[in-house]
Amino acid sequence: MNQPLKVLIVDDEASQRSGLAGMISAWGMTPETAGDGNEALEKLAEFPADVILTDLNMPGLDGFGFLQRLRDAGDMPPTIVLTAYGSVETAVKTVRELGAFWFLEKPIQPGGLEVLIRRAGSHAGLTAEKRNLERQLSYKGSLGQLVGASPRMLEIFTLLQQAGPSKACVLVTGESGTGKEVVARTLHALSQRRQGPFVAINCAALPESLIESELFGHEKGSFTGASERRAGCFEVAQHGTLMLDEIGEMPLPTQAKLLRILEDSKVRRLGGKTEFEVDVRLVAATNKVPEEAVRGGHLREDLYYRLNVFHIHLPPLRDRKEDLQPIAEALLGDLNRKHECRVSDLSPDVLLAFGRYGWPGNVRELRNVLERAVILAGEGTIEPKHLPAFLQDRPASTASAAPAGAPPAAPAPDDLEALRIRIGTTVEEAEKGLILRTLEHTRNNKTRAAEILGISLKTLHNKLKEYGAGKEDAMGA
Ligand SMILES: Nc1ncnc2c1ncn2[C@@H]1O[C@H](COP(=O)(O)OP(=O)(O)OP(=O)(O)O)[C@@H](O)[C@H]1O
Ligand SMILES: [Mg+2]
Repeated sequence: MNQPLKVLIVDDEASQRSGLAGMISAWGMTPETAGDGNEALEKLAEFPADVILTDLNMPGLDGFGFLQRLRDAGDMPPTIVLTAYGSVETAVKTVRELGAFWFLEKPIQPGGLEVLIRRAGSHAGLTAEKRNLERQLSYKGSLGQLVGASPRMLEIFTLLQQAGPSKACVLVTGESGTGKEVVARTLHALSQRRQGPFVAINCAALPESLIESELFGHEKGSFTGASERRAGCFEVAQHGTLMLDEIGEMPLPTQAKLLRILEDSKVRRLGGKTEFEVDVRLVAATNKVPEEAVRGGHLREDLYYRLNVFHIHLPPLRDRKEDLQPIAEALLGDLNRKHECRVSDLSPDVLLAFGRYGWPGNVRELRNVLERAVILAGEGTIEPKHLPAFLQDRPASTASAAPAGAPPAAPAPDDLEALRIRIGTTVEEAEKGLILRTLEHTRNNKTRAAEILGISLKTLHNKLKEYGAGKEDAMGA
C-alpha cells in the first residue's frame, strides 16, 4: 500500500495552519505545520515532506526567502504557494523564478487544493525532471479569474501559461458563456503588457458602417457624423491587448484591413493621411466553429491562419462537470461580496441538480442561477428551493404529485416525459423549462428539439443565448 502523502504547511496564522491540517488529515494525508520559513527548514530535517504548502507573507523568513533556500539546497519538494495578496504576477514569479510547483490564491477552494496536492505528490519522485515538471504547471484550481479542475481546464491553464507571455495572436473558441473573455483577460494578465490597457470590442454588436471607425478611428469630417477626431480601439489598446469578439461577424473588407495591420503593425484612421505604428496583442474569439466560418465564407482563410497561432477551445460546461463545483464556489465568493451576503456553500442536492442539468448558457448561466440563489438565501447553504423551477423539478418526481396516501398511479407512457409546472411559475420560466427539458430529451440535438417544440432553429438558438446571456446586463455583472 502507498504511504500517506506527507504535507508540510507553512503559514504564520495559526487558524490557517490548523484549518489546512484538518483538511489534509481528512484526505488521508499526514500534515505537519510550521509558522515561518526558518521553522519549516528545521521541520524538514525530520519530516521529509512530499509536498509543501507555503504562505508568502510571513514574519521571519517569508515564502520567497524560504523558496530560495529550498532551491539553493537543491532538493526542493513540489511546493504550492498560497497567496492572499497574490496578484497572478507575484504567484507566477514564484513558479517561474523560484521553482514553486504551483500557486493557489486564498481563499482556498478545498476541491482544487486536494487535486493539486495529489498531482504534486505524484510528481514528488520526479524533481530531477524539473523541465518536464515545468511543462506540467497547471495542477491548480485557478489561474487568475479562471477556475477549473477538469483535465481539459488544466490543459487550458498550461496553454495559457505558454501563450500568455508571447505576443502571438490567440484564437479563443467556445459556446456562449464558456469564459472566452475571461481567457482573453488572463492572457493579458500573464503577459508583459499587463500594465497596458485591455480593450474588448464585439464585432457582432456594431453596425457595419461603424465598425471600421471603432477599430481604426477617424479624422474629423471623414464621414457624415464624424464631427470630432476619434481614436480607434487599436490606438486605445496601444501596448496592451485587444480582444476582437465574434470575429466571424466582421465584414470581409474589414477583415482584409485587419490582416494588413497584423502584417505590418501600422494603422491609418479613416480619412487620415498618415499611418502610425501600433503595438497591440490580438486575441480573437468566436462562438462558431472557425473552420465552418471559413468554409461558409464569413471568415477569411488567411486571417484565420494568422489569428490561430494559439488556439484555445473552451469546452461547454456540460462536458466538464468536474468544474461545476469549483467554479460555483468561486462565484459564490464574488456574489457574496457583490450583494453583501454570507452564503457559505451549496447543499449536496443542489450539486446533484447542477450535475444533471445541461447548462446551455454555460458558466454565465451558472452565475445567473447562483446570483438569484445567493440573493434568495442571503446566508448559510443554498438549497434546491433557492433554484429556479427548471432546476428543481425532475421527471422522476412526477409521481410525488399524487395526494398523500393515494396509491401511486402507474404513469401513462406519455407522462414519463411530462413536465410538472408549479403554480407560481412564470410563463417565461415555464417556457425555459420546456425548452431545456426537450433538449435533454434530444440529447442536445437542437434541430430535433426545435422540431418537437414547433419553433425554428434560429428561435431556439436565440432563446438559448437569452438564457445564458440575457440577465447579465440587467445585473450589471
Ligand atoms: N472558468 C471560469 N471560472 C470562473 N468564472 C468563469 C469561468 N468561465 C466563465 N466565467 C464567468 O462566466 C461569465 C461568462 O464568461 P465570459 O463573458 O468570459 O464568456 P464568453 O465565452 O465570452 O461568452 P459570450 O460568447 O457570450 O461572449 C462571466 O461572468 C465569467 O466571469
Ligand atoms: Mg464574450
